[in-house]
Amino acid sequence: MKSASPIAGQHFYVSGAGSGIGRVITLELAARGAKVSAIDINTQAINELASNDSTSKDSIYPITADFTNDDSIIQSVHQAEKHFGPLHGLVNCVGILGKNGMKIEDLEIDDFDFVYRVNLRSAVVLTKAVIAGMAARKYGRILHLASISGKEGNPFLVAYSATKAGIIAMVKSVGKEYPDSGVTINAMAPALIESPMSASFSEAQMTLLKSRIPMGRLGKPEEVANLAAWIVSPECSFTTGFTFDLSGGRATY
Ligand SMILES: NC(=O)c1ccc[n+]([C@@H]2O[C@H](COP(=O)([O-])OP(=O)(O)OC[C@H]3O[C@@H](n4cnc5c(N)ncnc54)[C@H](O)[C@@H]3O)[C@@H](O)[C@H]2O)c1
Repeated sequence: MKSASPIAGQHFYVSGAGSGIGRVITLELAARGAKVSAIDINTQAINELASNDSTSKDSIYPITADFTNDDSIIQSVHQAEKHFGPLHGLVNCVGILGKNGMKIEDLEIDDFDFVYRVNLRSAVVLTKAVIAGMAARKYGRILHLASISGKEGNPFLVAYSATKAGIIAMVKSVGKEYPDSGVTINAMAPALIESPMSASFSEAQMTLLKSRIPMGRLGKPEEVANLAAWIVSPECSFTTGFTFDLSGGRATY
């Protein structure tokens, strides 16, 4: 019989921990016995998350960071490692839709740049900040939240879709740079998941996106968290550069 959690005692950095998917992943990792540095721009949300954690006291350490600022990202990694020690894993859940609902001809390039900074540039900065240390220690698990939008492109979501496609390509490239290092880097591409982000869609967008999911429902953050917890565990050891599907049958590739 197998009962011990393979990530018990390990240290994870979870960004976007203040809401939705990142919040549930933080709680799931802590429930499995991990120490979690919980990063977000929303200080109040992560402080509440840490103080209300009943599953495992002192397991969640809140750190405020702004992912539009490179130094802030790098400092958050230092702060996390100073508190709980070297990182075993990272789950990057920071992401924004940005202004959306219009065709590209009406897209403001400054708005595109902002989505790029939050969604893609930060993912590169964060990966750079952790991967050399992980490779030197010969172990690490990096997981970035991409999206089905990055695989298929969704209309009226150009900035979001393009930056999520960038994450998928970044993970493929980096996976091939560190194949024998003990570090894996993967992405996950969910379709619509129940969260504050998906709740912000217009009714028309929601109907369109939901109609494309063969299972006919939104995914649950807990479903994302369970898959994420396995991907960042030692058990997921022969997969790197890959984008895991979580789309209720929408993407079968
Ligand atoms: N919800 C979905 O349907 C869905 C589907 C596919 C992929 N995703 C991806 O999953 C991830 C999490 O999504 P979610 O639904 O939980 O979103 P969410 O909006 O509920 O949470 C995003 C978190 O990121 C934080 N954040 C935003 N800008 C930041 C910044 N500049 N610096 C630091 N933190 C910042 C927010 O404060 C928030 O806590 C995102 O990358 C998203 O693109 C979500």
